[in-house]
Amino acid sequence: MTSHLFPPGFVWGAATSSYQIEGSPSADGKGVSIWDTFTRTPGAIEDDSSGDIACDHYRRWESDVDLMAELGLGAYRFSVAWPRVLPSGDGRVNSAGLDFYDRLVDRLLDRGIEPWVTLYHWDLPQAIEDRGGWPARSVARAFADYAGITADRLGDRVGRWITINEPWVVAKRGYSYGDKAPGHRDAQAAVRATHHLLLGHGLATQAIRASAPAARVGISLNLTPVVPASTDRADIEAARRFDGDANRWFLDPVFGRGYPDDVLRDYSDAGWLDGEVSLESQADHDLISASQDFLGVNYYERTIIRDPGNGGLPTKVVPANADVTDMGWEVYPSGLTDLLVGLKNEYRPASIVITENGCSSSDSPGDDGQVHDQRRISFLRDHLLAAHEAVCVGVPLDGFFAWSLMDNFEWARGYRQRFGLVWVDFETQRRIPKDSAAWYRDVVAANGLVWNQ
Ligand code: FCB
Repeated sequence: MTSHLFPPGFVWGAATSSYQIEGSPSADGKGVSIWDTFTRTPGAIEDDSSGDIACDHYRRWESDVDLMAELGLGAYRFSVAWPRVLPSGDGRVNSAGLDFYDRLVDRLLDRGIEPWVTLYHWDLPQAIEDRGGWPARSVARAFADYAGITADRLGDRVGRWITINEPWVVAKRGYSYGDKAPGHRDAQAAVRATHHLLLGHGLATQAIRASAPAARVGISLNLTPVVPASTDRADIEAARRFDGDANRWFLDPVFGRGYPDDVLRDYSDAGWLDGEVSLESQADHDLISASQDFLGVNYYERTIIRDPGNGGLPTKVVPANADVTDMGWEVYPSGLTDLLVGLKNEYRPASIVITENGCSSSDSPGDDGQVHDQRRISFLRDHLLAAHEAVCVGVPLDGFFAWSLMDNFEWARGYRQRFGLVWVDFETQRRIPKDSAAWYRDVVAANGLVWNQ
């Protein structure tokens, strides 16, 4: 028998986010979010869908929690929809919106599942976007107020908080590339947004701790080890730029180093700094680097970077023979070991939690009514082995959350990409735990991978 067990107390969970699963976009006084608006933009979503119904979780939450209990999950990471709590972004608190999460938390605890709350998983109140969105500094304070209000209500029962999910995606994809809400294409605005997301993280951390002194707070970053496509100097330089923009721009300030000089130079050369934002205020950086209880890592793939040669942005390459998921993302488990070991060596975080890892695979029910998603099992197994290797060399890894609990609305890719451990029939809302769900239940029960050879 071989086994790869994780340290005692290791947290095993699955993750979702509000807009991707809840539906009921105007129930009980909820305000409009930027995703409600963006999904109505013609051509924005591949299959012209929206999160209007999604997994109908807002109405099916009780049976969904029962399902989690059947899967043996130790923890559940979900996000609170800011516009349910503050429909117009500030001012009046919508108590009915908070009631939903209050009941959800109680039921989770009742079933022995630890709630992990993400405060921002991309559904900004539209009213705040109308006042300038993340590129405007006032959003950071508004976010902290919302964090405090939510922690006041849930903080007596919720011990784990994630402020922001993937600030790079929020800023770059939302404000520069425009393929995610709110769909803008303004590189300067995106840089301002990164600063306000990080400042919002710092201010929210304070607000959560003020309401719930025992709370453990972190941020979830989408991180990727970056590899140059060749030994050409131009590719190496493009890889440095990409790594700076995607990884170090967030890690360095969170770990108290301020923004990296080389990236500030890159942004200045590209004309992305506009003088409207002071990126080097010591007071801001003191807040941004306020002690982290854990670093959330979302890992999906490594990134191979090539210089396009025309002065263009560093370009991602997927090797021709690579194994890829339905998203076209390269399957590269050892990138996770590299990433975790690199984080330990470079930043010495007190604790790391993998807050997302998983794969999109379109398997659907067969003649036997079951979903045999062997690809997902292999993907998760290989990534857990890679994570275990990191633990063996001293990485302080304390938890793993599979993305996702169930198939859901995959942003601009709509419903065609299925990441769930549980299959969802979006016509009938029937849920079928996939083979990977049964497999994961055994992993959780064993606290790792055990198999007979
Ligand atoms: C991450 C997001 C998550 C999901 C996965 C596939 O970037 O945080 O909501 O879409 O990708």
